[in-house]
Amino acid sequence: AVAALAVVGGIAIGITFAVLSTQTTAPAPPELLPLDWWKHCVLYQIYPRSFKDSDGDGIGDLKGIISELEHFVNAGVDAIWMSPIFESPMVDFGYDISNFYKIHYEYGTMEDFEELLKKAHELGIKVLLDFVPNHASTESEYFINSEKRVPGYEDYFVWADSPGPDPNNASVMRPPSNWVSQFGGSAWEWSEARQQFYLHQFAIEQADFNFRNPVVRQEMFNIMQFWLDKGADGFRVDALPYLMEANPADHNGSYPDDPLSGINHFESHQLGYTIPLYTKDLIELYDIVYEWREFVDKYLEDNPGDTRVLFSEGYANVTMTMLYYGNEEGAVGAHFPFNFDFITDLSAKSNARDFVYIILRWLTYMPHGGVPNWVFGNHDNNRMPTRFRHNMVDGLNSLNMLLPGVAVTYQGEEIGMRDGYVSWEDTVDVEACNRGDEDTYQLYSRDPARTPYHWNNGTNAGFSTGEKTWLPVADDFTEINLAKQKEDVRSHYKVYQALTALRKEKTLAYGEYDIRALSDSTQYLVRTLPTHRTYVLLFNVADTADTVRMDRVPHLKLPATVYVSSVHSNRLAGTTIDGEEVTLQAGEALVLRSDPV
Ligand code: FRU
Ligand code: MG
Repeated sequence: AVAALAVVGGIAIGITFAVLSTQTTAPAPPELLPLDWWKHCVLYQIYPRSFKDSDGDGIGDLKGIISELEHFVNAGVDAIWMSPIFESPMVDFGYDISNFYKIHYEYGTMEDFEELLKKAHELGIKVLLDFVPNHASTESEYFINSEKRVPGYEDYFVWADSPGPDPNNASVMRPPSNWVSQFGGSAWEWSEARQQFYLHQFAIEQADFNFRNPVVRQEMFNIMQFWLDKGADGFRVDALPYLMEANPADHNGSYPDDPLSGINHFESHQLGYTIPLYTKDLIELYDIVYEWREFVDKYLEDNPGDTRVLFSEGYANVTMTMLYYGNEEGAVGAHFPFNFDFITDLSAKSNARDFVYIILRWLTYMPHGGVPNWVFGNHDNNRMPTRFRHNMVDGLNSLNMLLPGVAVTYQGEEIGMRDGYVSWEDTVDVEACNRGDEDTYQLYSRDPARTPYHWNNGTNAGFSTGEKTWLPVADDFTEINLAKQKEDVRSHYKVYQALTALRKEKTLAYGEYDIRALSDSTQYLVRTLPTHRTYVLLFNVADTADTVRMDRVPHLKLPATVYVSSVHSNRLAGTTIDGEEVTLQAGEALVLRSDPV
């Protein structure tokens, strides 16, 4: 080696140049340890009410899911999580649970669930349940007993006295604080029976558990234990930022008002009127998540087998989100918190620089050793092709599958399903009904993302043989459905299959990533692993064509081959790319394969 001294900006830096030997030796293949099942899986969200109806009542059910388990094998999905399937009055379609140990009758029986688990496991598919710890239905035994002050249940929920009657209307009691529910209106509801208010951060029928009560904390372990004993592979954990609220003991015995946002188009009953200082992201809630992780890890120790996982759900800023992974003191939390950045921070308006910036934000803030994940849609938000542009479906699925970590798919994304139209008359979502009216409901409604799955172009898109479905089937099902996409030579589904198959390559499971904008419109994502083939995604997220220089893509050795391309690309799989420049059409995505680094 030859030592040289360079002077950069007045600072002397010693640089060592390796003398190139004439015989360059190829890099040694990296040592690759087996990855735990969840670290690189494709995780698919089923919204059970809308997936597949087996009995013609217009409502999806467990037998319907069982009948379509092969779909996951065919699509290349490794694990499914189902929105709640437990007994519920269905005010919030299952997120208001009245019995955490029972299957909801419209969805089937415990035997059906056991069969689902058994068959899924036989097919190599993991099954996760939705664990909803923040609240229970006001029809649950817990609430009924608590309202009656049955011993042992008195403090199961967050009960509070009224500061007194409303000065303008003596028959109405004033709530303990100005807290606003996620679905609009006061977060406090008066109980005539108990002569106290109870807290509900969501619907009136969803009472918030009191997590300062050790009995409640124990009951959460009991619920998890019950389903783990049945054989569930873990849980998606719901609505965590709302688990705890300010403790009156810290505020002179009363519940403190949240500060006002000062945004004057909000009225006091509307979400946005206050800043949720005392109602969201409280630091104490993380200790509960860390407790759950200890519980699940202990369960695995006592019941050896594949890892049981916790994937946490919460919309919060990046700092508060990362705390779900664990903290710097060494506490460990969820296996990962869902990454909603593609939903909350990117849209059809975003350019390539926005995409890269938002993707790198997660990867930058994620604690060491964390497993990243990418979510493109769910039952609470407009569907992915609707939030972005229709011609971006394959590019977005490519990003999802080529980024490191876990790829999350919401049912329908594999075929590019868009929002369905739901009239005000047909609207059933509690959020839309509470926050909106005939003119404004579409701003809030989650129904468009929950319309039934499109299996084929038959009656009710093959979802149900019933006369009527619980939400209308979207009109575009004759064009966008699974059966057609299986037949078509090129389709979103075929691209999706090619992408999930590609994830079996070591480069995607273990490789390094490099992502950058080439222009305002086009980004690259490069995945490399020494001695293994390199994969490069080029994706034009703009609504106009864009020409980019190939020599600015690191590690891309030309000529390269198109592995898969978006359905409207005129470069078919197998096409050779070997030029200085490439012009990508609006929304066009190319996944290229090139020689190892
Ligand atoms: C996610 C969600 C919603 C539900 C709420 C309360 O935010 O799952 O779908 O309404 O939590 O459980
Ligand atoms: Mg049914």
